[in-house]
Amino acid sequence: MTLKFDIQPSPNATSDKDRAAKLVDPGFGRVFTDHMAIVRYSQGKGWHSARVEARANFPLDPAGAVLHYAQEIFEGLKAYRRDDGGVNLFRPDANARRFRDSAERMAMAPLPDDVFIEAVEQLVRIDRAWIPGGEGSLYLRPFMIASEVFLGVKPSAEYIFSVIASPVGSYFKGGPAPVSIWVSENYTRAAIGGTGAVKCGGNYAASLRAQAEAIDRGCDQVVFLDAVERRYIEELGGMNIFFAFDDGSLLTPPLGTILPGITRDSIIALAKDAGTRVREEPYTIQQWRADAASGKLKEAFACGTAAVISPIGKVCSASGDFQISGGVAGPVAMGLRKKLVDIQYGRTNDPHNWIRNV
Ligand code: COI
Repeated sequence: MTLKFDIQPSPNATSDKDRAAKLVDPGFGRVFTDHMAIVRYSQGKGWHSARVEARANFPLDPAGAVLHYAQEIFEGLKAYRRDDGGVNLFRPDANARRFRDSAERMAMAPLPDDVFIEAVEQLVRIDRAWIPGGEGSLYLRPFMIASEVFLGVKPSAEYIFSVIASPVGSYFKGGPAPVSIWVSENYTRAAIGGTGAVKCGGNYAASLRAQAEAIDRGCDQVVFLDAVERRYIEELGGMNIFFAFDDGSLLTPPLGTILPGITRDSIIALAKDAGTRVREEPYTIQQWRADAASGKLKEAFACGTAAVISPIGKVCSASGDFQISGGVAGPVAMGLRKKLVDIQYGRTNDPHNWIRNV
């Protein structure tokens, strides 16, 4: 399916001087570019009215379905400025596919992959001056909401798909410095048959209470256990997790109730390229603690589009805290991070054809 986007540049675009000031230390998710992409869906008519226009509020009826039953999905991907001035997108096709999977699980209208990618690319083109140099990037947030004005509980007949963009630095304030995590024993994130494997806002809303508990305990992030036995490590509030062992192997929890992270998938591929044995296997919190104590576990790290790869230095739980790799960033996490980031910024070759030039 091809949709032609109507491109309407903002009449009030930010001046070069103001933009430069906003790009100095953007943090994560607080600064936004001048434009947004928007496409509408109506039952019977399909996807239509594709536009790129000035970023503005959505007019949304108070009875709009998303406000009541949370039919909403989103994605996260980044555009990187190369040293030669070009712009790289990292695996947008994988985001488009996952967005379709999320739509299917949430009974929403599937958006064709080429419309998803075109919307992202058009927004990057018009707002390319907002892509920070150095280690920064432009975080792209495609999302879809149910917009039918109706209070009955059923799949909406109308949707708004949109993409917004935010220049970002590091997700964690300390950059790639080790983070601490809190093991949630009171709350779970996902059960078999639920929505854990898709990127819907509800998963993140449900993680916030546990995340608040983590902050109260002085930790950066929460890690969830499985909902049945309450002992298998699943994922963090918004990131997947890896473990690195003394025999050189890597382990990450298997897919099923966790988000199939694109960074997770990329790390598995890069590690396998280097001859590393990667196991996608269940791992318990008890084993984690024992392996950290015996020295069998060398490192643990979190990964995601926003977080990239962040070493985990300390694990806190109701039954006591423990440290990993002396609380410092280890060579496995930092080596994989460099490999991944070098591909994303176009500093090295791209053996899996992950990069799309814009
Ligand atoms: C991402 O990594 O892109 C996410 O969507 C996670 C969110 C916590 C920022």
